[in-house]
Amino acid sequence: MIKVAASILTADFSDLRREVTQLEKPDVDWLHLDVMDGHFVPNISFGPMIIQSLRKKTKLYFDTHLMISNPEEYLDEFRAAGADSITVHYEACAHLSRTIERIRELGARVGVALNPSTPLSLLKDVLGEIDLLLIMSVNPGFGGQQFLPLVLRKIKEAASLIKPFKPNLLLEVDGGIDATNIQKVAAAGADVIVVGAAVFNSRPVAENVRSLRRKLSNLKKG
Ligand code: DX5
Ligand code: ZN
Repeated sequence: MIKVAASILTADFSDLRREVTQLEKPDVDWLHLDVMDGHFVPNISFGPMIIQSLRKKTKLYFDTHLMISNPEEYLDEFRAAGADSITVHYEACAHLSRTIERIRELGARVGVALNPSTPLSLLKDVLGEIDLLLIMSVNPGFGGQQFLPLVLRKIKEAASLIKPFKPNLLLEVDGGIDATNIQKVAAAGADVIVVGAAVFNSRPVAENVRSLRRKLSNLKKG
């Protein structure tokens, strides 16, 4: 069953608790938390404090996407705030294997993200150490961007590389995914699909999640 991870980046931050609660009804699988520092990516979003306060309000799985420089300096804080998985960018890590080790020690699911132009081959020596590979289908930093079609080939390549080698390594795709392309992303091999604007840019939120899920279940029926 393909998981739907809702990104709160385009949610109404003046009423985040209500926005997150609305995701619980259509049982979204994961809450995708886009942490941005204004340095690794041009946008600034939120940090551990917001995650900590949300943690008290929901049981949803916290899929934490760190679009920050030097993420190794903040891993303990994000885990303590309630992150269930912690995904760092390959491009932001000088010592990736040490960072992976630390996330593992903290007991969180270990994720590594690749920007659209970063080749998969750079991860071949760490694939055995991680639980989740996040393929960016937009250049990171903002919600509501256009899906980059060139990434479909990369998703297929990742799926054919990973599945025989490590079937339980989750392939997550993130950015610009909506009703028009979600089936293509799923067919290419995604296990987890992030949706942000497609969920929050129109209302009701729960209906948006349900219609995206219907698209995925129709795919199964072929
Ligand atoms: C972009 C973030 C994505 C984005 C997803 O840097 O990593 O998670 O917010 O939102 P949409 O679906 O609006 O592209
Ligand atoms: Zn993200």
